[in-house]
Amino acid sequence: MPQYSSSNSINFARLFNIWMSTLNDLKQIIKKVSCATLPLPCRKKLVVWLNRQQWINRNRRNWWSTEILKDFAEIDINEYHRFLWANHLAYAETYEPVTRFGADNIKESRKIFFMDLLKVIRQHEIAPSSQVRSIFEVGCSLGYQLRYMETDLFPGAEVLIGNDIDKYAIEAGSEYLRNHNSKVQLFRFDMEDLDERLKGRFFDIIISTGVLMYLQENIATKVVQAMMNHTKGIMAIAGLAHSEKDNSLLEQSVPRERDGSFIHNIDKMVENAGGNIISRRWEGDTDIDGNTIYFLFATPQSTAITAQ
Ligand SMILES: C[S@@+](CC[C@H](N)C(=O)[O-])C[C@H]1O[C@@H](n2cnc3c(N)ncnc32)[C@H](O)[C@@H]1O
Repeated sequence: MPQYSSSNSINFARLFNIWMSTLNDLKQIIKKVSCATLPLPCRKKLVVWLNRQQWINRNRRNWWSTEILKDFAEIDINEYHRFLWANHLAYAETYEPVTRFGADNIKESRKIFFMDLLKVIRQHEIAPSSQVRSIFEVGCSLGYQLRYMETDLFPGAEVLIGNDIDKYAIEAGSEYLRNHNSKVQLFRFDMEDLDERLKGRFFDIIISTGVLMYLQENIATKVVQAMMNHTKGIMAIAGLAHSEKDNSLLEQSVPRERDGSFIHNIDKMVENAGGNIISRRWEGDTDIDGNTIYFLFATPQSTAITAQ
């Protein structure tokens, strides 16, 4: 039986470290060469292809995707996020029917959001179970929140519609919903086209959670305006909270360091859209299941109940 001395294991550790650092250097070289030689459209195709290779570990695929497209994120952060979501890449990959549908899978922070929404609705003297008839969700992914509203919160709703840019999410979610005889309908389109797509339609409730953060301030402002234009009851939004100061005090949107998504002053956007904020919640750096707490509930100007 061979005997291993401690000096053998030190040598092995050294070799292992050298091997790892060579591998890292190699990764950096491949990354630099591919970024310098391949034009962006080719690299986008490469990333889509790479992400279909299930034999490569998901973290590794994500690392490569973000590294290969780093300059894209620097040039146009809006388009970068749109590209990742539309192709179900990077963080989008965690959205699967099996892990998202069902009340037990709804995240705690979202449950708090929905409880606040119910409270606001009741204050409005609307019976959630029978008087909420139509709901629209912007950036609904697979439609699991619409389904939750259908089964658990607003069973009287006849119309439950959502849109998302993620083709995979719309297709997989629609299949799940069909198989469960749901009334929820999902459509694939960009939220920037919301006003046009909802032309002539109005909803009792329009919600959007964790979505506006992927748009730059001017475009997010337009989406909020579009949401307000088609709300006849309550518009409810959950955004990314600023960790130190109440978002309503922000002069302008600021990018989150981790991923370049935006921390907005949604209060200002709602007011600019002619909305009347009836309830809000901001909890700074509180982190519940990876989400922060910055909720806004608003009505069109004509319907007035007081903010608390
Ligand atoms: C963080 S997920 C949130 C999903 C869901 N609203 C929730 O709270 O669990 C963001 C969603 O926004 C969608 N999205 C991002 N940009 C979009 C765009 N320009 N138009 C429509 N949907 C978009 C993504 O595809 C994704 O489903």
